[in-house]
Amino acid sequence: MKLFIYHTPELTPTNSLPDCAIAVDVLRATTTIATALHAGAEAVQVFSDLDKLMQVSGEWLPSKRLRAGERGGAKVSGCDLGNSPLDCTPEVVKGRRLFISTTNGTRALQRVELAPTVLAGAFINRASVVQYLLANLPETVWIVGSGWEGSFSLEDTTCAGAIAHTLLTKLNCPLAELAGNDEVAGAIALYQQWQDKLVEMFHHASHGQRLLRLNAHEDLKYCAETDILDVLPIQKELGVLVKKD
Ligand code: MLT
Repeated sequence: MKLFIYHTPELTPTNSLPDCAIAVDVLRATTTIATALHAGAEAVQVFSDLDKLMQVSGEWLPSKRLRAGERGGAKVSGCDLGNSPLDCTPEVVKGRRLFISTTNGTRALQRVELAPTVLAGAFINRASVVQYLLANLPETVWIVGSGWEGSFSLEDTTCAGAIAHTLLTKLNCPLAELAGNDEVAGAIALYQQWQDKLVEMFHHASHGQRLLRLNAHEDLKYCAETDILDVLPIQKELGVLVKKD
């Protein structure tokens, strides 16, 4: 297995695809997607364009759909939900499809949507992501951070490092054997620096600070919890993620 980490969708190569791509948006899209599927959502369908989301979800019965929209961290008016994973309780999402559009996370998923396997990873389901990689041993793996509007996000690369660090430990191989680019060593070093103080790391991150200004303290605490959900969001058709059996 060769692992490549890209900090943002914009830094991700456009002339090739990996066997397996993992989109990461710790704050908060991939945390929300994993939580919704764990809570019993039928599927999560992602959109970069809000008008398209409204149009496609409009073809569904209101009782079978939930519209989630976020821009700049805040809920988009006219949507049922914003992008808080804490809103995705079984009472709210069970049996419904979550139609979601966020500032960066859904763009990261779309950037790699043509890969044969597309997963969504976050701290909350890090163990499930690693377990999938160890069971399937894809030859090339990309972890793509969502960043913020083209710029590096500390929390996404740290989470990529968390996945890489566990993989390396479980495979028991030298870094040079696993790492496909320099970003892998950088991400692992970041994770080693912050692993015991992830909430503190979010407080240093620009998007963490944005969410704190929006009073999303509880979201930050939840997004920092590691390996708490046994759930793996996997793309089953273009833009549609389901819980892997
Ligand atoms: C994004 O897609 O940029 C994030 O998920 C924003 C957020 O925290 O809602």
